[in-house]
Amino acid sequence: MKYLRATLLLGLSLFVLPVFAEDDHSLLSGDTQNYIGYGIVVAMLVAFIIAMLVILRAIKVLTKVLLKSQGYTEDQIVKELKPVKEKKQESEVWLKLLSLKPLSEEKDLVMEHEFDGIQELDNPTPAWFMYLFYATILFAVGYLLNYHVFHFGQLQYEEYKTEMATAAVEHKAYLSKAANQVDEATVKLTKDPTALASGKMVFVKNCVPCHGAQGQGVVGPNLTDDYWLHGGKINDLFKTIKYGVLTKGMPTWETQLSPKQISDVANFVKSLRGTNPPGARAPQGTKETDDTATKTPEKLVANQ
Ligand code: HEC
Repeated sequence: MKYLRATLLLGLSLFVLPVFAEDDHSLLSGDTQNYIGYGIVVAMLVAFIIAMLVILRAIKVLTKVLLKSQGYTEDQIVKELKPVKEKKQESEVWLKLLSLKPLSEEKDLVMEHEFDGIQELDNPTPAWFMYLFYATILFAVGYLLNYHVFHFGQLQYEEYKTEMATAAVEHKAYLSKAANQVDEATVKLTKDPTALASGKMVFVKNCVPCHGAQGQGVVGPNLTDDYWLHGGKINDLFKTIKYGVLTKGMPTWETQLSPKQISDVANFVKSLRGTNPPGARAPQGTKETDDTATKTPEKLVANQ
């Protein structure tokens, strides 16, 4: 008995340990160790049930021997160990479901012991409660298989990671959509390098023939000086690029560039200010230096 207990304990500590082992240097991978761990736990539970059945059997045998030594006949012993259930009247369905015994049967349920006039009834656990209990066991088995063995379902952390990944995709989609919502009223001046780089690409592809590689001006005006025909604020640039000045040869870009691209190229043009490229065209239009001015100089003059 002493050895048995020691072996059991040793087995327990040896086998259950891998479940929690997170040692990277182990020969087995963490997953394999977990499988072994779960397997051992299940095997031990089965062994436990078998042991219980063996003990039950042993108790029956012992009782038999005891009863025999007290002079019981074979028939009496069998009757004692397997009491024949008396046929009961058909009780109501709900009584059955709740495993309730009618009051009339209570006297059969009284247990032998008594203390101070208090007696105990041998009432069974209600059926619904037992079914609930069995259901939890089934659920646990299903849960274990689903999440830990076959990995059909995602565990919390994996679920979190998938959700974060989808959120990142949606976030990106939302941002690009939001960026495209911009127009001449809401466009913002920015020095963001990615926006300027994208603006430069748009410029090189579409604007160089008329405004020159450095914005110095060819057919179109010089875009690097402080003089503007249609306003030098970021909103003015956006508007000029978006709608164009068709009568003067500046095309409309609304149909070819996205609002985001127009915003980027407008900001790129703004970044060219004061670069003084060689061969720049002479200034045209009104001088504008204050980017933050809410009114264009012409309007200021008109107001005075
Ligand atoms: C076909 C030639 C041509 C192309 C291509 C062109 N432009 Fe122009 N752009 C012009 C002309 C011509 C003007 C002058 C309009 C005027 O005199 O009113 C102009 C004017 C402008 C102005 C206003 C300048 C001011 O002084 O107010 C901006 C800003 C501008 N263009 C930006 C661009 C951008 C950005 C692109 C590329 C997406 C582009 N343009 C492509 C010909 C062009």
